[in-house]
Amino acid sequence: MRTAILELLKHNAGQYISGEEISRNLNVSRTAVWKHIRALKQSGYDIEAHSRLGYALRQNTDRLLPAEIRAQLTSAVLGQEIHYFSEVDSTNNEAKKLAANGCPEGTIVVAETQAAGRGRLARGWFSPFGQGIWLSVVLRPPFGPMDAAKCTLMAAIGVNRAIGVNRAINAVTGVDCGIKWPNDILWNNRKVVGILTEMSAEIDVINYVVIGMGINVSIEHFPSELAPIAASLSVATGRSISRVKLLTAILAELENVYKLVKKSGFAPVLAAWRKESITLGRQVDVRGFDRSFSGVAIDIDADGALLVKTPQGIERVLAGDVSISPVVFR
Ligand code: BTN
Repeated sequence: MRTAILELLKHNAGQYISGEEISRNLNVSRTAVWKHIRALKQSGYDIEAHSRLGYALRQNTDRLLPAEIRAQLTSAVLGQEIHYFSEVDSTNNEAKKLAANGCPEGTIVVAETQAAGRGRLARGWFSPFGQGIWLSVVLRPPFGPMDAAKCTLMAAIGVNRAIGVNRAINAVTGVDCGIKWPNDILWNNRKVVGILTEMSAEIDVINYVVIGMGINVSIEHFPSELAPIAASLSVATGRSISRVKLLTAILAELENVYKLVKKSGFAPVLAAWRKESITLGRQVDVRGFDRSFSGVAIDIDADGALLVKTPQGIERVLAGDVSISPVVFR
């Protein structure tokens, strides 16, 4: 009923429609209409109520509201259960709690803003209200913990395709981006997407994986320390981007790669990653937990580790921070 009322309001966007008309149209009592309207307002819709004229949906905000997501959802598993927050500490924290309590695979957590968004390597993640997609997806992959790192590469492929690179069919933004190992998506050498994968596992089985994605959609002003290294998709494209459309495209693409991995293993993902990477063939600086070195990134191996050729030999990087050196023209 709530969705039907919302549809009616959307159909008359900006115009008043009386409570009586809604109740007649949908065969429901005026009190029920009022209760649904109140609930819609509480979940973030900007609905104006006038004692004589009725109700009007003021603006069709591009909020990541569950009803909006559901209306555009094409994935069969991802996004079937949606937890929406106007504000949360971290969507990954919330998703981990839900996963530990047995939520179904494909459950997603989205927020308009995160008070304590987390990045890789214990960094924070800048998550301003309504200007990005702060999203976590719960997976329960049928493989061992050794494969978890590759889930991160898989997520990068899904997001990169949705963003619209490398011949993606359902490209939403049309921006030309590439993947920096392991899973940052860069445009013009600036980060537009970061992915934080966390998991709970036993020795030989994964209980759940939470893939947390931070997509900078329309941020125009980053804090000064991020300004030189971050960008947002609407700045990159010069046009506004529907977050709901992008989010549902990400879920669809991620579901496709995930299905492929379950059917054929990680080889196709690794091959796609190599194609969509902007790291391979480049001079990189690696900062690991206990050592730092530089070299040329030559490949990723079957585990998803980055292989870096240094004067001392080939180094295998499974964790740490990799930065791509700027190209020097002589
Ligand atoms: C990185 O350091 O590049 C990873 C950033 C991941 C940020 C996302 S935003 C949604 C999810 N919730 C978090 O707290 N972090 C991830």
